[in-house]
Amino acid sequence: MNKNKVYIETYGCQMNLADTEIVLGILQNNGYCATKHSEEADIILVNTCSIRDNAEQRIYGRLGNFKTIKDRKPDLIVGVLGCMAERLRKDLVEKKRIVDVVVGPDEYRRLPELIDVAFNGDKGIGVKLSKTETYDNILPHREDGLQAWLSVMRGCDKFCTFCVVPFTRGRERSRSLDSITDEVKQLSERGFKEVTLLGQNVNSYKDNQNDFADLLAACAQVDRSMRIRFTTSHPQDLSDKLLYTIAEHPNICNYIHLPVQTGSNRILELMNRTYTIEHYLELVEKARKIIPNVSFSTDIISGFPTETFEDHIMTLDVMREVRYDGAYMFNYSPREGTKAFKMADDVSEEVKSKRLQEIINLQQQISFELNQELIGKEETVLIEGFSKKSDKFLSGRTDSNKVVIIPLDERIKTGVYVKAKIDRATSATLFGEFTGFANLLEEHLSLTG
Ligand code: SAH
Ligand code: SF4
Ligand code: F3S
Repeated sequence: MNKNKVYIETYGCQMNLADTEIVLGILQNNGYCATKHSEEADIILVNTCSIRDNAEQRIYGRLGNFKTIKDRKPDLIVGVLGCMAERLRKDLVEKKRIVDVVVGPDEYRRLPELIDVAFNGDKGIGVKLSKTETYDNILPHREDGLQAWLSVMRGCDKFCTFCVVPFTRGRERSRSLDSITDEVKQLSERGFKEVTLLGQNVNSYKDNQNDFADLLAACAQVDRSMRIRFTTSHPQDLSDKLLYTIAEHPNICNYIHLPVQTGSNRILELMNRTYTIEHYLELVEKARKIIPNVSFSTDIISGFPTETFEDHIMTLDVMREVRYDGAYMFNYSPREGTKAFKMADDVSEEVKSKRLQEIINLQQQISFELNQELIGKEETVLIEGFSKKSDKFLSGRTDSNKVVIIPLDERIKTGVYVKAKIDRATSATLFGEFTGFANLLEEHLSLTG
């Protein structure tokens, strides 16, 4: 095949990163090869995100750049994949005339065929959502490394009133447990040391009799020296069984990303989040009892319709109460087609941003304080390589996903677990000394006898 070089850029959440690997897997099976340079590509694909308006604007900007390349190289194919493809198919083909291929998240198997359509001068469009597609039998194209993403379920049935995901990703469906553990096994054999199980509501995973706790346990048993992470958990599906499973397996990270969105019960109801703050805080407390040392991160939206100053204060209160390790914090962005879009976006941009800044400042202070509390303690760190800033230092991460920097040491190879005594910390990074090697398996044996 002549024109077979594909360049792909990925925006949005980890699910999109995982999807890009699936797309490359499919294309490579059909004679295409990936390139890291957009100038030498025959096909440029952008895997897109619709979650907030600024995410889409950024991608429109990128498509403008690709138009300049296409002006010079008219037979270049430009394609849009992912959530924007699903949401804006007409707009992309009719208004942004540079787009030749538009393929939504459930039609990637048809990409080779749709690219052919485009090479023949037509538009290649596939935007049907599926009730069953999980790409179960597609081996994603992954570069060698330590950390891998693995989608275990797709779609979302929760319909939070602000969110486009149920519209861009369709209904919930899960992969089979066996195909997932097989893939974890392959990753272990290739030397991967960490797998993150992904889903918009990962804990509502279901395969016949198996729920998400069963899946986590099965993945953790594949290779005891491999860390298992997962994201995102919805408070509604955080069962006791799941908490006990996390506690039981030392290689399942004691870290839960549990988006709260707001501290106000009135706003939670308008958002259709299906829990109250009291229920949420009880969950956190229960998790802390069952899983010693568990840490939490969250997502927060500032300025949802009708949010008052009092509602905002309640959000700050819940942050102080839980003391999250980290948070993703956003201004509310109205999305056409969602329920909240029909509510007046009545908090001014200025007020939204002022509140958001207070939320960010508070989170930074809490992260700083939590990190200071780790000084003098020993952490188990998976070494990932040189630190970004200097090759005289190594960088790795703790169970709770905190970055730890230690001085370079000849004995320490990438991909091993070490013990590090923390001696200094900022709000984002811990600094420590190497005190010895760590072994997750031994820790497991010592815990279970
Ligand atoms: N499924 C995950 C979140 C997916 S989207 C969950 O339910 O937790 C990631 C985050 O983006 C959400 O948690 C929310 O905080 C934010 N988000 C989604 N839609 C948004 C919107 N319209 N405006 C601002 N933030 C939004
Ligand atoms: Fe969006 Fe809510 Fe589904 Fe998360 S649970 S993807 S916020 S609708
Ligand atoms: Fe964005 Fe779609 Fe993920 S909207 S956050 S890429 S599911």
